[in-house]
Amino acid sequence: MLRVLSDLKPIRRVSQIRQYSPEPVPDDVVHQLLELARWTGSAKNGQPWRFIVVRDKDRLRKLGALRPPINWLASAPLGIAIVLDGAEPMFGAYDEGRLTERLLTGATLLGYGGGTAWFGGPAQDAEAKRILGIPDDLTARQIVMIGRPKSREDPRPTGPMRGRKPLSELVSYERWGASKQK
Ligand SMILES: Cc1cc2nc3c(=O)[nH]c(=O)nc-3n(C[C@H](O)[C@H](O)[C@H](O)COP(=O)(O)O)c2cc1C
Repeated sequence: MLRVLSDLKPIRRVSQIRQYSPEPVPDDVVHQLLELARWTGSAKNGQPWRFIVVRDKDRLRKLGALRPPINWLASAPLGIAIVLDGAEPMFGAYDEGRLTERLLTGATLLGYGGGTAWFGGPAQDAEAKRILGIPDDLTARQIVMIGRPKSREDPRPTGPMRGRKPLSELVSYERWGASKQK
């Protein structure tokens, strides 16, 4: 029991990082993360994704300006934008979530940090696609930022709480709402 806990500890708390040091992310780290992403499981192994590695500051600043809740993104040295073929939207959304979690977890395990920035909806997605040169028929709604964390604090004046609900509020046994038999 204890051994499992210590094995899981490095990935139990993968915080959303919104403040980064300017230190560049080396190409081999980016490559390792892209490899990790590539091996994500997907519905029917469809692998509906493509990735755009973005380091250009001006481009990152433009993406960060799409809406205030993601204006922190330009502090990161690098982002990986996720592009989906959109053929199966429900599967695509699920696959994208799995993929994102891998990038965030992988970055954390390599001593970096990550944060997802959602462009914000159809109008912002279209503008992000223009900034990144993504064809109209593809889906793009987020960029996953990677870098060395400068702070784990949320710099925004109003952000969500950082904790998590306790298991006692989340889990039932055998039937909805039933507690564990002693
Ligand atoms: C679908 C989705 C959209 C998100 N959009 C944003 C966003 O626009 N800006 C932001 O700073 N964080 C965004 N986040 C990150 C969440 O706020 C974060 O995962 C949550 O607050 C937990 O953070 P913590 O693990 O650091 O406690 C998003 C997360 C998800 C899953």
